[in-house]
Amino acid sequence: MTVVGVGPLLWLYNVSVVNVPPLMVTDPLPLIELDQVDSTNSWLLSQSRLGQIEWPVAVIARVQTGGRGRLGRKWVARPDASLCLSVGMQLKKVPPSWISLAVGVSVINWLIGRGVTQVGLKWPNDVMVGALKLGGILCESSCLNGGSLLVVGLGLNVEPIDSENPSVSLRDLGLQVGPDQISEIGRSIGECLLLDLNEALTNGFAQVATQFRTHDVFLGQQVKVVEQGQELYRGKAVGIAEEGAYLIETQKGLVSIQSGDLSLRQVRDE
Ligand code: BTN
Repeated sequence: MTVVGVGPLLWLYNVSVVNVPPLMVTDPLPLIELDQVDSTNSWLLSQSRLGQIEWPVAVIARVQTGGRGRLGRKWVARPDASLCLSVGMQLKKVPPSWISLAVGVSVINWLIGRGVTQVGLKWPNDVMVGALKLGGILCESSCLNGGSLLVVGLGLNVEPIDSENPSVSLRDLGLQVGPDQISEIGRSIGECLLLDLNEALTNGFAQVATQFRTHDVFLGQQVKVVEQGQELYRGKAVGIAEEGAYLIETQKGLVSIQSGDLSLRQVRDE
């Protein structure tokens, strides 16, 4: 994971730091609420370079003008229709390659805890309901004070969105979230995330892999591996492997794919 494309901060209004009571973490997680920013991930990464912020911290934005997704994609969200959250945390070491899988598992567990039970994960880190995307995760890291800064970005559809890709929102799933509740949700997810990532980093990958497998929407399905629109392999999804790679059983044998520039797609009747 690397830091990519940190853009300029375009608009920044009404910054307030809210000290929130602890939910599942010992220390309260400070929450910064921005009216508008290019990208909450970029904002945290640039703050780390300025050295003016204490970690861990969560930031949410009502409007993102340059939201970023995996593989250089854009994350487009209408105001108040999406949770745009980034959580920055300091680690002693470089985060392991499987950290974004642990983030996905944590988000799923948070949703299930709120009664959104139909959710699953698409490797490496899309939050899905069946074939529809509910949210996406973008983890980035940089060097910080002899260790690392991990920035976990989460975009979650709160209201139905206009997208060329099939998607679903919390409202579609029966969970109504008003604009004034979005920060509450961001804070709550951020606190759960810190707790869960602490546990994952302490216990290691095996536990994360087991949990991911439980929620893997592609497990046992026919899938294809795509890189920049080109199909590389197709076969049966065998699931998570060492270090967060993904195994596909192809006609030529077992193939292990790393996150990199690759995406998984379901093979439908073609
Ligand atoms: C993906 O689906 O490819 C990941 C999308 C991640 C979007 C979130 S929104 C909050 C944070 N800020 C960003 O610029 N991106 C992430």
